[in-house]
Amino acid sequence: MTATQHYELKDREFRKISSIVYDACRINLRDAKKELVQARLAKRLRALGMDSYGDYLDLIEKDACEHTIMIDYLSTNLTMFFRERGHFNYLAEEVFPRISESSTGRIWSAGCSSGEEAYTLAMLLRENLPKINLMDCLILATDISTRMLEAAKRGVYTAKRMENVPEDMLEKYFRKTGRAEETFFEAGAALKSLIRFRYLNLIGPWPMDAKFDAILCRNVMIYFDKPTQQELVARFYNLLKPGGIFIVGHSESLVGINHDYTFVRPSIYKRPAGEERVAL
Ligand SMILES: C[S@@+](CC[C@H](N)C(=O)[O-])C[C@H]1O[C@@H](n2cnc3c(N)ncnc32)[C@H](O)[C@@H]1O
Repeated sequence: MTATQHYELKDREFRKISSIVYDACRINLRDAKKELVQARLAKRLRALGMDSYGDYLDLIEKDACEHTIMIDYLSTNLTMFFRERGHFNYLAEEVFPRISESSTGRIWSAGCSSGEEAYTLAMLLRENLPKINLMDCLILATDISTRMLEAAKRGVYTAKRMENVPEDMLEKYFRKTGRAEETFFEAGAALKSLIRFRYLNLIGPWPMDAKFDAILCRNVMIYFDKPTQQELVARFYNLLKPGGIFIVGHSESLVGINHDYTFVRPSIYKRPAGEERVAL
């Protein structure tokens, strides 16, 4: 097998892979994604020295670890620091002051990928809550991709990935680490101590019982079908404190989904505080 070997993914194999992925995490690989699946898994086949997708599917049936690795290869993990900046402005202006008053804060980054969203939240909590060391503030950051979670826990990023981080915060919260010719930046303890990175498949039980001031599930549910989105939106609602905020990606919305949130602005929703609830 050579590095340029072309593996052909048959329609039948693609359908099988799609159904395994859907059952595991509800990611919906529509037909248009066949080439993407083929390209992503070809790398894995090459690494394993395998000859065909048929052999790979036989392995998946026997090996639970490889099943997890396949989901890793097929999930889309694009993320960045300060992505969709308006969300962070809103949190800093409207949510963090309430956390400051109550002295307890819980934020959930659901589908955190390689951690940039959680580290952005941690920087902004530190910037906006000068007494944070005296408070009980935590960010829960979860994902289904073990590979992404490892990267998130390491918190080491290339200089290119730090482009959106303001210079003063970069200096304050990251340590420069040179490796060979490339410069890397590692998140410092001030950020890491505020975050708990955990494996969690959104399609499955959620073990936490804490209620959150804000839940960010941005650019994750777009990969799910409507019934799954409907179910998740309701489960997030139940885990929010009254007055808590639910944020989805800029290109997402709750249109077409039955829910009890009040609309704050595009992609930002609120669980009404008791007295705001309108009887219908
Ligand atoms: C495109 S990234 C979004 C990252 C970040 N929230 C942002 O907006 O920049 C989507 C993430 O959702 C995760 N994901 C997909 N399906 C999931 C599931 N069923 N449970 C938990 N995480 C999932 C993927 O592994 C991926 O890291």
